Amino acid sequence: MSEQQIISGELLIFEGDPFTDAPEQAVQIKSDSALLIEGGLITQIGSRDEMVAAHPQAIHHAHKNKLICPGFVDAHVHYPQTAMIASWGKRLIDWLNTYTFPEEMRFADPDYAREISVRYLDLTAAHGTTSMASFCTIHTASVEALFSEAQNRGQRVVAGKTCMDRNAPDGLRDTAQSAHDDSKALLERWHGVGRLSYAITPRFSPTSTPEQLEAMGTLWAEHPTCLMQTHLSEQVDEIAWVHELYPKAQDYLDTYESFGLLGERGVYGHAIHLEPREIDQLNEHGAALVHCPTSNAFIGSGLFQMAALKARGLSIGLATDTGGGSSFSMLRTMAAAYEIAQLAGSVLHAGQLLWLATQGSAKALHLSDKIGALEGGMEADITVLDLASTPAIAQRYDNAAHAWDRVFPTIMMGDDRAIADVWIGGARVTPTA
Ligand code: GUN
Ligand code: ZN
Repeated sequence: MSEQQIISGELLIFEGDPFTDAPEQAVQIKSDSALLIEGGLITQIGSRDEMVAAHPQAIHHAHKNKLICPGFVDAHVHYPQTAMIASWGKRLIDWLNTYTFPEEMRFADPDYAREISVRYLDLTAAHGTTSMASFCTIHTASVEALFSEAQNRGQRVVAGKTCMDRNAPDGLRDTAQSAHDDSKALLERWHGVGRLSYAITPRFSPTSTPEQLEAMGTLWAEHPTCLMQTHLSEQVDEIAWVHELYPKAQDYLDTYESFGLLGERGVYGHAIHLEPREIDQLNEHGAALVHCPTSNAFIGSGLFQMAALKARGLSIGLATDTGGGSSFSMLRTMAAAYEIAQLAGSVLHAGQLLWLATQGSAKALHLSDKIGALEGGMEADITVLDLASTPAIAQRYDNAAHAWDRVFPTIMMGDDRAIADVWIGGARVTPTA
């Protein structure tokens, strides 16, 4: 029998969807509870005392003043941008040309790709992120490096080769044919291997010719279990450029749709400045959007319309968008989502924020049968939050009037010091903090 571990304390449990049901019904904090980990899975959830009595031989990790959560799921990142995060002073297109593309060029070197993969997965684990969907670079070595390192760690990772065949510098362009062939070879090698899965990844319409988007659409049709991830309607200038490059397209989404790149397993980052037709089509196809709030503030993109899009029933994940986003932390990202919602005229409940960072992202990535909730049968990816991790947060925690009031200050002010413990696939990862 494999080793058993019990984690006990306050558990974050999802009983429903906090955007359709009352948040405090849908997301519950259960005291004196415990979960049992065996063979990389959560096999039971229940009362602490009963669990400990039933499994006296299990290793017991007891937590006080903590919240035991599903591991955070970051639904849109660029791991190759780790080393240029927080680069100053540019909006999207200039930012890509000035900072991003020169850094991505370095991933032609497999050793550099390996070094940054290790650094990125160390940093994110220290911030409580246990899974992510990452763009890589045009280089197959960048995909190999991230998948290999994730495999070493037993980590659930979605990734894909970023395809672009125009409007990028020499050395950072593929072709329609090579993008198709390289992506196909990579997905045949990695998709569904252990906890890894492949996402077909055209960067965005401005850096792909129509021929490349068509090739990506063909590949997706041949491999429909893969996700397809890209960017959509992030900045107003970008949208104007898309109209110039694709004069026949009705709108930005149509540049994807007309090449077979709109579907249920499509995951569209940013999606800030959407036309009514685009929202209708995304909804009809059951596609997912990913909100990247620190990025949207940092690059000056605009205010994501969470309340209106959720009211339409769209699937929405939450993401850092490292390194357009200014943080590796999903706590900081939840705080930014709260702030952007405030600016857009609505209020997000702490339970909704935690749900977005776990279950919402897992659903957007079609992984919610495996990760994103503390339930029997789910993979044991767990993040334990210290709810009194700094003096400033502790004094709020001590004076809190009710359970959610003890959690919200950590969402707004917490950083990697709030990450008390992390498990990935049932293995304890000691945070570096
Ligand atoms: N649009 C196309 N590529 C990128 C990228 O790397 N980051 C962001 N934020 N937007 C993009
Ligand atoms: Zn992005």
